[in-house]
Amino acid sequence: MKKRTMYAGDVTAINIDQTVTLMGWVKKRRSLGNLIFVDLRDRAGIVQLVFSADFDQDALDQANNLRSEYVIEATGVVKARKPEAINKNMKTGEIEIEVQELTVLNKSKTPVFEIEDGITASEDTKLKYRYLDLRRPEMQKALMTRSQIIMSTNRYFDENGFLYIETPDLTKSTPEGARDYLVPSRVYPGSFYALPQSPQLFKQLLMGAGYDRYFQIAKCFRDEDLRGDRQPEFTQIDMETSFLSAEEIQEITEGLIVRVMKEVKGIDVPQPFRRIKWQDAMDRFGSDKPDLRFGMELQDAAPFVKDAGFKVFDNALANGGQVKAIVLPGAAQKYSRKMIDKQADYIKRFGAHGLAWLKVEDGKVSGPIAKFFAESTELVNGLGAKAGDMIMFIADRKKVVADTLGYLRTYYGKDLGLIDENRYEFAWVVDWPLFEFDEGDQHWVAAHHPFTMPNEEDVHLLDTDPHSAHAQSYDIILNGYELGGGSIRIHTREIQEKMLKALDFTPERAEEQFGFLLQALDYGFPPHGGLAIGLDRFAMLLTGKSNIRDVIAFPKNSNATEPMTHAPQPVEANQLQPLGIEVTPEAEAEIEAEAEDKPKD
Ligand code: AMO
Ligand code: AMP
Repeated sequence: MKKRTMYAGDVTAINIDQTVTLMGWVKKRRSLGNLIFVDLRDRAGIVQLVFSADFDQDALDQANNLRSEYVIEATGVVKARKPEAINKNMKTGEIEIEVQELTVLNKSKTPVFEIEDGITASEDTKLKYRYLDLRRPEMQKALMTRSQIIMSTNRYFDENGFLYIETPDLTKSTPEGARDYLVPSRVYPGSFYALPQSPQLFKQLLMGAGYDRYFQIAKCFRDEDLRGDRQPEFTQIDMETSFLSAEEIQEITEGLIVRVMKEVKGIDVPQPFRRIKWQDAMDRFGSDKPDLRFGMELQDAAPFVKDAGFKVFDNALANGGQVKAIVLPGAAQKYSRKMIDKQADYIKRFGAHGLAWLKVEDGKVSGPIAKFFAESTELVNGLGAKAGDMIMFIADRKKVVADTLGYLRTYYGKDLGLIDENRYEFAWVVDWPLFEFDEGDQHWVAAHHPFTMPNEEDVHLLDTDPHSAHAQSYDIILNGYELGGGSIRIHTREIQEKMLKALDFTPERAEEQFGFLLQALDYGFPPHGGLAIGLDRFAMLLTGKSNIRDVIAFPKNSNATEPMTHAPQPVEANQLQPLGIEVTPEAEAEIEAEAEDKPKD
């Protein structure tokens, strides 16, 4: 093998008349008898190779046998293309390489899908042949962007005096709200490590140890249901500081975002970022991570509908609920009754009982509930609607109203083209409640995590009315996603114990779970706080993808399996035996049933 002189995708008119040696994959071959064109691809892009008896007969003969995805080495002279052959859309479009020497480094089977952007192969096929999928230019670009974010982050934190410190992956779990992945110990059969859901407690302990500015690109593991923005294994840009206020930590975070946006996207993000109180976000957008690229805010419709005599609305208000509305600009013509009925069915998943709507016409309204609004001027003007608009109402409990209208706002914002996809609207959501009620499990949980400091003026509420306390926590949001979150932490044993008590920990269980932290707090623990940004989500949003899978080299599919290596897998009995673990007959039966279901490779 010769020495490569440059990347194929980097050859431009500057290199005309130079002899270059390129290595890469055959994207395409076009044969015109005694003239053969080959598109050669490497991670930098594509360049056109030309083979002809005029340059080298041997190379021409060999080029005849080239197939897609063969790996080749080509040496030749860079030449300007004829004016009519210039392709302005390609970086290498002004030149081509007249090949004098060709070596096939390896052959390839015909790939199972085209190595190009926008292919329609199924997700599982792409993941099974991930090494082929990752050859596609859009995937290479996504992983390069991810790498740039990491490099930019490392530079920023280094320049700002942060120390990179690694924390363990085999650990005792920290409660972040998800189930843990467990790792059995061979040395202590029956005992388990947990993979970290985040480095939370370790970074706090580093503050206790005096390393007052810490950061890490940290792998985190959470056994929770997958979504487009959730993987069981993901990466955080994790940081912690001592002696700084929430505002100062936010300022450092903004500095990081501004730096990354400039270096990776060439975009100047204005500072300071917008700040929204959690309650306002819920009231105005029905979400704690609102997309701020468009308006269409939730409005209280109660003052305008309370005397209309429509039972559904009256009942909701009488039961202490709400009637709120969104105005869909110019939507009256766009949506048929059938489409709205389908939507009304869909929103049942948020607990909604129906979807009331009105179309606004000149001087009147129409639709199934229009008869209650013969006098509609006050309603229409009050909600700021115009002729041609549509109004959607949800009447229900506060949470159902927020969840449903929050969803409808995003859905119709997108569908009506109200969102500028090139905008990045960062904001802070602040003043969170300390606790939230888990409707599934019917009990109170920490809204952020159990180490979050209450607002100073709310500390006393921990004794009397903990669930009304607010927290010194903050989320950073971007375009409808929670990008990151953090808080000022509790740094005294007294408050930490009260917090755990409010979460129904007995003193014994608190000691058993968090004894090491409580003890550390006794030894001169500094005031501290920090934050973690989801690197995968950040990379997804900066590459315009809609699933974090597309910015992770080897992700899991939506069933939490990995179609290429087939993880997770049963293991040999002799691997389990020293761990003191036995697979139950029920699990064995499940494994067998699955093996029968699985298509053979
Ligand atoms: P939190 O649990 O909010 O906070 O996580 C911080 C950020 O990590 C990302 N994230 C995820 N990304 C992909 N897949 C997942 N399953 C997943 N879960 C979370 C999100 C989220 O905003 N220790 C605290 C941080 C702190 O207080 O400093 C923590 O982990 O972008
Ligand atoms: P009904 O009187 O139940 O036939 O409902 C009339 C309209 O109100 C229908 O379009 C329903 O979808 C809608 N509706 C019913 N319940 C609610 C609710 N809780 N919130 C908003 N609209 C509702």
